[in-house]
Amino acid sequence: MLAEKNFYTDHDILLDPYAYFEAIREIGPVCMPPGKDYFIVTGYEEAIEVFKNTADFSSSISVQGAAVPLPFEPEGSDITAQLEQHRNQLLGYDYIVNLDDKAHTNLRSLVNRLFTPSRLKANEEFILRYSDELVRAAVSNGGCEIMRSIATPFVTLVIADLLGVPASDRQLFMDTIEAAPVPGSLDASENDYSGENHPMVVMATYFTRYIKDRWENPRDDILSELAHASFPDGSKPRLEDLVNLSTFMFGAGQDTSAKLIGNAMRYIVEHPGLQDQLRQDRSLIAPMLEEVLRLEGSSKATTRLALRDTKIGNVSVPAGSRVLIALASISRDPRRWDDPHSFVLGRPRIKEHLSFGRGAHTCAGAPLARVEVRVLFEKFIDYTSHIDFDETKHGARGARRLDYEPSFIVRGFSELHLKLTPSETFTGKQPASVAVS
Ligand code: HEM
Repeated sequence: MLAEKNFYTDHDILLDPYAYFEAIREIGPVCMPPGKDYFIVTGYEEAIEVFKNTADFSSSISVQGAAVPLPFEPEGSDITAQLEQHRNQLLGYDYIVNLDDKAHTNLRSLVNRLFTPSRLKANEEFILRYSDELVRAAVSNGGCEIMRSIATPFVTLVIADLLGVPASDRQLFMDTIEAAPVPGSLDASENDYSGENHPMVVMATYFTRYIKDRWENPRDDILSELAHASFPDGSKPRLEDLVNLSTFMFGAGQDTSAKLIGNAMRYIVEHPGLQDQLRQDRSLIAPMLEEVLRLEGSSKATTRLALRDTKIGNVSVPAGSRVLIALASISRDPRRWDDPHSFVLGRPRIKEHLSFGRGAHTCAGAPLARVEVRVLFEKFIDYTSHIDFDETKHGARGARRLDYEPSFIVRGFSELHLKLTPSETFTGKQPASVAVS
């Protein structure tokens, strides 16, 4: 029975979680499936209820997921004190996404101040130039493998530019990201945050150096602003808070945005008439991306921990329960969305999908992700008259072979080979790299 399978360990579910979550939804929008010791939420309204109920639900297990047992035996109807005693045994416990209450609002107040319109504007100029360079090169070559040659370097260098990572270190950041295992794979080394070669550890070393440097030599960049920032009560963040925050922001925007690029490209190639519609009206690219996020957002799941006896919808959830929020499924809830499994361009209120989360922890990088991916697709649409898959790699239409990452965190391709036919107005490649010098 499909609902008895395991989201975290079954290879076929790691490759494609949608039918599995539909089987779970049939049991109920909030349920503990057979053979599991955690709840799964597939209901749209129920997910919002959990996201917003920060009094009863902690984010402390959002990195480690719902399948991993707690490092303590929950006792009684309120485990708040127990959690505080054991919090630092949880994976990624000091990343912003895992924090609760004041520790979270303090760091979040710093993040919210960083993404100012003027900074995003300056970053958008970099996005425009770099996307232009990458897409021109790909179209001049008649095609590309988009995940490695465009999506990953593009999102890596966009966030590097925004934060203020020096150009001389950017190649190293790209190499570190390139060598990293995909988050949420069954490869255990990915979870070993103590290993000195873990990409988050490598990047933390660099961010420590940058923050210390900005203490002495402030510049007009996000790292300088972080280095000199105060919390709302006037107290100063510790060095490790700042390093964790910048490292997490760097990591959080990597695979998510890169995989969204691949997922959207599949709809552009496969959905009848879509690419021509976008060529006729570029303003449709933004709603197209929202619909791809709703149907096939690149974050599959997040997790919460019930701090006290509570309810989700009409289901009782005891203190200590782990709750998997199925991001891959909650925006396909038929009680909220008509014809939920179909791609429909221009759905009303499409931005109400939950693929960036909701509430206190809602994605801080959503505005950046939306801009960078939209601009990249504008280039693809402008410089091509036709985009197709390379059939020697992916097979013919109707018999496609597409390789998804076996990950319980991200939804997206490991590789995607494209054939690109230049538009009549395409003028060719640019000579110099704007990104790494
Ligand atoms: C398509 C791209 C992206 C997707 C689908 C995505 C998805 C998400 C989701 C679902 C959450 C909420 C997790 C939870 O509530 O447990 C989140 C949080 C977060 N995201 Fe994103 N994200 C994307 C891109 C980015 C980018 C580009 C950045 C950085 C610039 C970023 C930075 C963050 C941060 C800092 C948080 C934690 C916020 C907090 O805990 O207060 N994300 N993201």
